[in-house]
Amino acid sequence: MLPRNSLSSWQALTAHAKEMKNQYMKELFEDDKERFEQFSVQLPSFMLDYSKNIITKKTMKLLFALVKETDVEQWRDKMFTGEEINKTENRSVLHTALRDTSHKAVFVKGRDISEDVKTILIKIRAFSEKVREGKWLGYSGKRITDVVSIGVGGSNLGPQMVTEALEQYSDNSVKVHYVSNVDGTQIANVLRPLNPEKVLFIVSSKTFTTTETITNAKTAMQWLTSSSFDSSAVAKHFIAVSSNKANAIDFGILEENVFDMWDWVGGRFSLWSAIGLPIAIYLGFEKFSELLEGANEIDQHFCNAPIETNTPVILALLSVWNCTFLGAQSQAILPYDQSLHMLSAYMQQAEMESNGKSVNWNGQHIEYSTVPTIWGELGINGQHAFYQYLHQSNNIVPADFIGSVKSVTPVKGHHETLMANFFAQTQALMLGVDEQQVRADLKAKGRVDKYIDKVAPHKVHKGNRPTNTILLERISPHSLGSLIALYEHKIFVQGIILQICSFDQWGVELGKGLANEIQKELEEGNISNKHDSSTTGLIKFYQNYI
Ligand code: F6P
Repeated sequence: MLPRNSLSSWQALTAHAKEMKNQYMKELFEDDKERFEQFSVQLPSFMLDYSKNIITKKTMKLLFALVKETDVEQWRDKMFTGEEINKTENRSVLHTALRDTSHKAVFVKGRDISEDVKTILIKIRAFSEKVREGKWLGYSGKRITDVVSIGVGGSNLGPQMVTEALEQYSDNSVKVHYVSNVDGTQIANVLRPLNPEKVLFIVSSKTFTTTETITNAKTAMQWLTSSSFDSSAVAKHFIAVSSNKANAIDFGILEENVFDMWDWVGGRFSLWSAIGLPIAIYLGFEKFSELLEGANEIDQHFCNAPIETNTPVILALLSVWNCTFLGAQSQAILPYDQSLHMLSAYMQQAEMESNGKSVNWNGQHIEYSTVPTIWGELGINGQHAFYQYLHQSNNIVPADFIGSVKSVTPVKGHHETLMANFFAQTQALMLGVDEQQVRADLKAKGRVDKYIDKVAPHKVHKGNRPTNTILLERISPHSLGSLIALYEHKIFVQGIILQICSFDQWGVELGKGLANEIQKELEEGNISNKHDSSTTGLIKFYQNYI
């Protein structure tokens, strides 16, 4: 297998990047009045403007050649048809089947999993309706008013991000709370105001071995049984979502209360499965279906649109261009929509757990830089915190700006202010302002030369900072589904281009293993002498104070 940097399109891009390093977007916009039309794509759910990147038609042509040379389309088809593209774990990658509204047959090890999808959707529908309609009763015969979803990583971030984004679409017949942290403060705070008679716990864990989740679930079970004085209450208050049915049953959850998951769904791509049960309960099954439909719309687009207008392909290429070829180290996700306040946390897991790796499919070291650090915050809050860095630091941080044409909660005057900032920021990041202009502006304000000499260098913004703009019509289950699927496929394409195994996560194992050993030592009060002196010193310091 040839390393990517030996491909002719890669080498052409390396040479082209040298030319483009001194190219100013401002000039590109001045030279081409059609630049926006040239570098934007409109889909039913959103518009993507990527014209504010350091690219020309030649750049995109070379990037599209890279897509061809790395067989992205063939890999995409392999994913959708159930080939085991997760090579290190010998698994298919079929989160797309969970939202295939046509339920086309797809086979995994000879089994048509579209049948499993239909079955689980029926189960999610029936169960969520029963809870929402007050027909699922707690141990004392009361209806469920609160769901506490216990899970971490992919078993938490997706459902929580979605339920919080779509709060305005809930009739609030059932409230949903999340516990992900093993820090007891979180579960204590969540449980304190709740009445055990009316709480349903959903323990979401694909493996059902995650220590933090099991610890939280045990605490929840104790809380329930100490109030009900009856262990049979567990049957009415505990549901599990897992591909490890045996462990869930061993834990004490009734078999019929375990919702299936499968190894062909990666944790960070699982909100479309029964892991999304809290979403269905909170919003109703109809809205959950709309979320799936929105994602399916992008699946269709990803499979059928030519690469030149294929939005996940374009986003992936721009990330590779900005990071691998132009040297950016991080990328910001900046939503200008309160609903998306958890999006960057969600995207951190989605992209960094998928592609934050340094060996290729053959296990060989990758010489080029791969994916950036993903970070971000709601745009307006960020403006008053870290945008200084985005505008003037020596490090270039490409950013995705995500906004909505209409607010889900219109409040007079607010949306205009929000969107004015949204538009102004990408413009400012692209245009910047040079010293000559800064001096002229200060002069026009009547400032004296001495002051101008002192301040002018500090007010220069070099500009030329790349951004993508994604504009949704409005946050809705459908458009949110599309947005998430857009990024999922972007991550997939990025992985193929960079030759990364996007669907495993071995990098989380080492720390987990060591934590298990140290926990045992802490419990037994017997600190091993095999730790380094820092770790031993810290543990001893901790022990002396407890
Ligand atoms: O530790 C990382 C991880 O394995 C993620 O990949 C996963 O989403 C999360 O933990 C939770 O795992 P599980 O659903 O098996 O509890």
